[in-house]
Amino acid sequence: MADERPAVSAGTLKNRLARFSRLSLADLPTPLLDCPRLSEKLGGPRILVKREDLTGMAFGGNKVREFEYSVAPAIREGYDVLLHGAASQSNQSRLTAAMAARFGLKAVMVGRRDAHSRPVNGNLLLDHLFGAEVHLIDRPEEKVQVIERLKAGGQRVYNTSTDGYYLRSISYVDGFLEMWEQLQDRGVKPDGLYVCSGVHTHVGLVVGARALGVPLRVVGISPSPQDDEEDAASLAGVANKVAEMLALDLSFTGDDFESYGAFAGDAYGVLTDASREAVLLAARTEALILDPVYTGKAFGAMLRHIREGQWRTGQTIVFVHTGGTPALFAYADEMLDPDPSRLR
Ligand SMILES: Cc1ncc(COP(=O)(O)O)c(C=O)c1O
Repeated sequence: MADERPAVSAGTLKNRLARFSRLSLADLPTPLLDCPRLSEKLGGPRILVKREDLTGMAFGGNKVREFEYSVAPAIREGYDVLLHGAASQSNQSRLTAAMAARFGLKAVMVGRRDAHSRPVNGNLLLDHLFGAEVHLIDRPEEKVQVIERLKAGGQRVYNTSTDGYYLRSISYVDGFLEMWEQLQDRGVKPDGLYVCSGVHTHVGLVVGARALGVPLRVVGISPSPQDDEEDAASLAGVANKVAEMLALDLSFTGDDFESYGAFAGDAYGVLTDASREAVLLAARTEALILDPVYTGKAFGAMLRHIREGQWRTGQTIVFVHTGGTPALFAYADEMLDPDPSRLR
C-alpha cells in the first residue's frame, strides 16, 4: 500500500483526544508482545499481539479502555444506575458492574437466559460478585420493563451500550495512537491488523490509522453473522461521526472497512471448530489465553488467512486481543467435547 498523507500529527491527535473527559481506569499502555513460536509453527508472518486483555480492571478487555471515555459523562453528571443487557456471558455487563462498584453506583444487568447462564460461571459469576442486580430474561420486553421501573423510582439510568456510543470508538483512536507509538519505538511497520469488533474497536483503529496516514489493512471480525456490505457501510457512518467529533478532515465509505461475519458461526456466542482450534493453538504455542466468543473467532480468521497465503514470511500482523477471557470458563464442556483428541 502506498503511504498516505496524515490528516494530523500524533501530537495534534493527542490534543484533540484530550478535549474529551476521561476516567482513569486502565493500566496503559498495554503490552505489545511478539509470538515467535506461533509464527514459526505457521511458517508465516511475524505476529504481534496488542494485549488489550491486560487493561487491568476486573479481568480487563477493550471495554475498560472504551469506558474511560464513554462512562465519564455518567460519573460527571451524577447518574444513579449503570445498566447493561446482552448475552449472559457478556463482558460488557461484567465491566458495567465493575464500574458501578468502583464508583459507588447501582449496577443492573438484564441478561438473556441462554445456553451459558447455568451453572453460574465466568462473566455472570463476576456480575454477581460486583453486586449487580441481575435479571435473566426470556423476552426483550422484560428489559424495557426493568428500565421503566428504575426510572419510575426516580433513578437516572445510564445504558453503557447506547449512552456515550461514539466515545467508545474515540477510545480506540487513542488505542491506535498508543499502539502506533509502540510499533515506531521498535521500528516495526505492520502490514495488517486483526480485531474482533462489533463496531467501536474496529472504527477507532481505522480512524486512528487514517488520521495518522498509516497504510495498513485492518481486518474486522464480527462476533455475529451479518451482511458484510451493510456492516461496512454502517461502520463508515460511525467513523464519519467520530472524525467530525475529533475535527478531522476525513470521510469514510463502506470501502474503507473490511468486516466479516462468516467467522461467527450460526449465531452470536456459539463455539465454532475454528474458534476452538484458535484458542488451543494460542494457548499451546504462546500461553496466550483467548476466548471462544470474540478473540477466538478473530484469531481463527487470521489463521485461515495465513494458511490461505494472504500473508507471508517477512510481513507483520498485529492481533488486537480485546479480552473476554472470563467467558472461557462457561464454555468448559464445549472446549473439551466432543472429541478431546482433536484438541492435541
Ligand atoms: C472480548 C470482546 N471483544 C470485542 C468486543 C467488541 O467490542 P466493540 O464492538 O466495542 O469493538 C467485545 C464486546 O462487545 C468484547 O467483549
